[in-house]
Amino acid sequence: MIFTVAIDGPAAAGKGTIARAVAAEFGFAHLDTGLLYRAVGAKGGDPVAAAQLTPEDLARGDLRSLEAGQAASRVAAIPEVRAALTRFQRDFARQDGGAVLDGRDIGTVICPEAEVKLFVTASALVRAHRRWLEVGGDEAEVLAQVIERDARDAERATAPMVAAPDALLLDTTELSISAAIEMAVEAIRQRIGQGRA
Ligand code: CDP
Repeated sequence: MIFTVAIDGPAAAGKGTIARAVAAEFGFAHLDTGLLYRAVGAKGGDPVAAAQLTPEDLARGDLRSLEAGQAASRVAAIPEVRAALTRFQRDFARQDGGAVLDGRDIGTVICPEAEVKLFVTASALVRAHRRWLEVGGDEAEVLAQVIERDARDAERATAPMVAAPDALLLDTTELSISAAIEMAVEAIRQRIGQGRA
């Protein structure tokens, strides 16, 4: 079965948590596409050359840091970097058995034909607080970085972060992550049901 769930949205909105839960629920493969850009940014040097990723690049222990997030959003604005990562993501999305991908452009650029698209968001304050709980440090600095990264991701010319017109919007500012997961699971169940009808 080919079935793609595309989950996009700004930094620390809960995309990864929802993606992992949905993948476990339906037995789908999961790809955190942010990790690809983080790995390119963390390598340093020429970003286009760095976009030829190896499994070791993706196994680095420092990819979740705030610095790696900033480096990721800088290299992610370079069209040649995005192009180098496209084929792998598309093939992953359309593999047999179902796939969940989370990122910024999955429902718009990587897999516009995705069977289910979610755009997960929350206020910047709530997202920064969640990220701060994960990484620690100065919460005001975490907030500043989240806001800076969102602006860069939304304003870039190539594959900007934007909700696909047919995406289901999940605002987790007040919605708990478990409630958001339930809504995501329900949307996927409904779509699978339509396919069988
Ligand atoms: O985990 P968080 O939401 O903070 O970020 P991430 O998903 O790991 O993505 C890190 C950065 O990679 C983002 O700020 C984007 O600049 C870039 N990215 C992208 O451009 N396209 C994607 N599909 C995924 C990430």
